Amino acid sequence: MKIAIDGPAASGKTSLGKALAREFRLRFVETGKMYRAVALGFERGIQLADMEICVTEDERFLLNGQDVTAQLHTSALDQKSSQVAVLPEVRERLVELQREIANRHDVVMEGRDIGTVVLPDADVKIFLMATPHERASRRIQQRQSGDLDQVEQEIIVRDTRDSERAVAPLKPAADATIIQTSQKTLKEVISEASTLVRDLLEDVVWSAENRDS
Ligand code: C5P
Repeated sequence: MKIAIDGPAASGKTSLGKALAREFRLRFVETGKMYRAVALGFERGIQLADMEICVTEDERFLLNGQDVTAQLHTSALDQKSSQVAVLPEVRERLVELQREIANRHDVVMEGRDIGTVVLPDADVKIFLMATPHERASRRIQQRQSGDLDQVEQEIIVRDTRDSERAVAPLKPAADATIIQTSQKTLKEVISEASTLVRDLLEDVVWSAENRDS
């Protein structure tokens, strides 16, 4: 089982991904944190070739053996991660790592290019959308800090950079289900996505039964 969740910054991918991973007993992989770890590595003067990024079973992110998970969600790394994400050599390294994980585990993987590039054969593809204003206010609630207008502007800058880059731009896969989350609670979004996964599982069981009978 491979579930791909894509969408712009602060669209609720992580909350949804964690909920689906719990419900369907899948490994949750937050690919944005890998880009953040690379940006942190550059900030520390480490060359890409000398960086080793590892993700543990319990979702800890290691940069050259050091657990940097708690340092990845800063507003400086919000922008820097999207700057390094335009570099083809960075994407190549990280996409390889992401596919390796997906080859070994059933996953819910979230990011920007999961349905289009990393796992084009994913069983379920979801693309979350919400207005920049809504996403900015969610981000402020989550981090318990920030000015609404400024955070909204930063989100718009990042979305534009992520959508306009030449390699693996942010966009829904042709076969993705788009969920508009602006007027919905997290519970409603989880329920909608969970129904998609259940429908898929029912189809799989149905075709297996028909094949066997
Ligand atoms: O999801 P998150 O906000 O942590 O992602 C940080 C940045 O990493 C994004 O703005 C984007 O530029 C980049 N990213 C990406 N492809 C992914 C995941 C994240 O380019 N699959």
